[in-house]
Amino acid sequence: MSKNSGVLKRQRFGYNTDSCGRYRRFINFTKTALSAPVKIALLGFGTIGTGVAKILLNNAARIAQAAGRNVELARICDKDIRTPRDISVPENILTAGIESVINDPAISIAVELIGGLEPARTFVLRLLESGKDIVTANKALLASHGAELFETARKHGRTIAFEAAVCGGIPILNALSTALQANTLQSINAIVNGTSNYILSQMESGQTSYQEAVKQAQQLGYAEADPAMDVDGTDAVQKLTILAQLGFGVAVNWKDISRIGIESVDAIDFRYAKELGYRIKLIAAAVRSNGGLELHVSPTLVKADNPLARVKDAFNALRIVGDSVGPVFFQGLGAGQLPTASAVVGDVIDTVLGRTAITFKALNLWGKETADSGRQSAAVKSPQEFFGKSYLRLNVKDQPGMMHEISGVLSKLGISIASMIQHEPETKNGGEPAVLILTTHETREGDLLKAIQALENSPAVLEKVVRLRVQG
Ligand code: HSE
Repeated sequence: MSKNSGVLKRQRFGYNTDSCGRYRRFINFTKTALSAPVKIALLGFGTIGTGVAKILLNNAARIAQAAGRNVELARICDKDIRTPRDISVPENILTAGIESVINDPAISIAVELIGGLEPARTFVLRLLESGKDIVTANKALLASHGAELFETARKHGRTIAFEAAVCGGIPILNALSTALQANTLQSINAIVNGTSNYILSQMESGQTSYQEAVKQAQQLGYAEADPAMDVDGTDAVQKLTILAQLGFGVAVNWKDISRIGIESVDAIDFRYAKELGYRIKLIAAAVRSNGGLELHVSPTLVKADNPLARVKDAFNALRIVGDSVGPVFFQGLGAGQLPTASAVVGDVIDTVLGRTAITFKALNLWGKETADSGRQSAAVKSPQEFFGKSYLRLNVKDQPGMMHEISGVLSKLGISIASMIQHEPETKNGGEPAVLILTTHETREGDLLKAIQALENSPAVLEKVVRLRVQG
């Protein structure tokens, strides 16, 4: 047999040797391959859809090289195809009707960027049934209907890729499902909502009011169509649902995850947090503790030297601790047109290459055996059983016995105070309402909630107690 025959054989089977004699994947860049493009359809031509079109058109050569084939934007479907976007696309690919995508067998990948539950759910189900692979950025859809969609994809031999659904441009789902998969994870603490982080950063700098910061986040294209979902923590719990599924093998309903939004945070909380050595961030946490898994989203005092505390504006970040790898930290833009579109187009390329099909099958997400597959699954704890430190802001009567009463309520429930701040009032004699800040040592959540209720019923406490979590 000639010396070259092995090489020829390898070329036929898609491998080649480089100048150093190593095997490398032989991607066929011949005219034949590039003249048979993969046709994709975009559903939704809003902020992210426009970004995806921009990347596909502006980086076409790079994408063809990565995917091994040209990727052709064959159809863009949106109920509004008249409003001009800041990219020009051929008129004849725009359509307001989904049927022309569903019924076109030449389209093999549909990119769902409509957002929300309906009609996105119905469209995705029909597209899967008609044999198309799906790429989506829709965390709400996956958090609510993941089981149904993944089951349908499996039944029809199709795939769903969703990197853009969590933390925009950070390739975190990829990391969890590939490079980190050997680990049993101990914790994920993450900033997953760019809008909230932008608002908190603006408030902390003292230059912008809460309302003004919300408006800016909308103008910058960070916020959801309904920004209430950003500030009340809904978007964050939906992303945490997906992280919990990938990182801990648990299928939870996002509505069951304990959630506090950033609306309760006031400008004065940043000052007290700073005085105590912390910054305030909206943290989505999945933490193993005493054999169970705690899942919650809450504004949290994060120690100033924790890298999460330094993450500002629309940036997202995740600190993940695995049993083998130890702590790893990811940071990047979690919202906005091009960062999110970057993740979407990465998924399109992976789907063309067949990489999505491999991970999709291996992960068996929302599959029947997820919970007992041995893949890092954990029992989700009831919120009453969480353990942690808290920050409490109380508006109190500044009078004799007030402190005695408050510490009495806490001590009855076995809650230990870690620090306490009450500043001297502006007026000379006192008697005006005062702000009292307490932080607690580790406390069982059920006891803390009882204590808050008892404090709010006490005549010494004048308003609802503001409670934030505290972590090192
Ligand atoms: N509204 C979301 C955010 C966009 O602010 O993070 C990305 O999911």
